[in-house]
Amino acid sequence: MTTLLPRPATGPSVFGAVHLGYVVVETERFTEWHRFGADAIGLHVDELDRDTMRFRMDDRECRFLLRRGPAEDLVGAGWQVDDHETFDEILSRVADRSVPVTEGTAEECALRGVERLWRFPGPKGISTEIFTRARTTAAPLKMLNSAFVTGAAGMGHLAITTKRPDELRSYYNTVFDARITDFIDENISGLTLKIRFLRVNERHHSIAVANVNGVRIDPIRTSIQHMNIQIETLDDLLASFERVTDLGFAMAWSVGQHTNDRELSYYSVTPSGFELEVGWNPVVITPELESTWDPSTYQGISIWGHKPVGETVVTKMAQFQGALRSLREREVVVSELSEVRR
Ligand SMILES: [Fe+2]
Repeated sequence: MTTLLPRPATGPSVFGAVHLGYVVVETERFTEWHRFGADAIGLHVDELDRDTMRFRMDDRECRFLLRRGPAEDLVGAGWQVDDHETFDEILSRVADRSVPVTEGTAEECALRGVERLWRFPGPKGISTEIFTRARTTAAPLKMLNSAFVTGAAGMGHLAITTKRPDELRSYYNTVFDARITDFIDENISGLTLKIRFLRVNERHHSIAVANVNGVRIDPIRTSIQHMNIQIETLDDLLASFERVTDLGFAMAWSVGQHTNDRELSYYSVTPSGFELEVGWNPVVITPELESTWDPSTYQGISIWGHKPVGETVVTKMAQFQGALRSLREREVVVSELSEVRR
């Protein structure tokens, strides 16, 4: 039996004042990412120099920062916080537990399109970066979609496979007062893949945490299994699905609908190997729903569709070879922010 320690911070809750603002990807595959971002998904692409590329989805200067490097992975997540009180509260929780916090340089801030940022370690090596003000641009959006849903709900969500689900849950509880929205159990080869969905604002989940129940395996190479962005219209969702397929990019799951947040989506494979879920119309947890929300457990990931096209998280989690390798590897945990009582 595992029990999460109550958050010892005495300050106000920061729930609702935190929004996923941008992600940082390290890659060598600039040509593929450009084609994937601009021509397949239909994002606005800005090439800054040989080693730096950015994607826009709205009037923000940066939603994806791609920088040259060997990781082929998502290495950082930028979280916007609404005000300086929230900002100070989060930083004091981190600093009080002796976790190192560093301020981003002027160059790092400029690349991410924010005024200032502070960085501290996150689970699975994903840096947590927090900022209050993002830079917008009047330069017109050149993209193949009419719009993406960002705003109060943030730009989407991250889904993370882990051997240490309690620690991940605890980390986002400690830092952002994340609440459990619901759970999904999916059976794979006699094992149960358990997914916990965490929200930090009106978005049904900004973080999903997936693990195989009772077994410490994680055969996913990358820090996240997928990230999600939300497209505004169904027409755009279907057109982008066609483009991804027509251009020859790998698809993991075709269009389907999730049991819990009812989002319609497909899962494409990015040039770095993690997946990009493009979704439409998920349930929004309005203040009225928030006041009486009670987490439930759903059986299975999808109501319909999401047909596996290639290897999926479900087949991968059941793979013996990858699982064996993951047994030997230590997962990065920020233990000071992830206290779990056993
Ligand atoms: Fe997702």
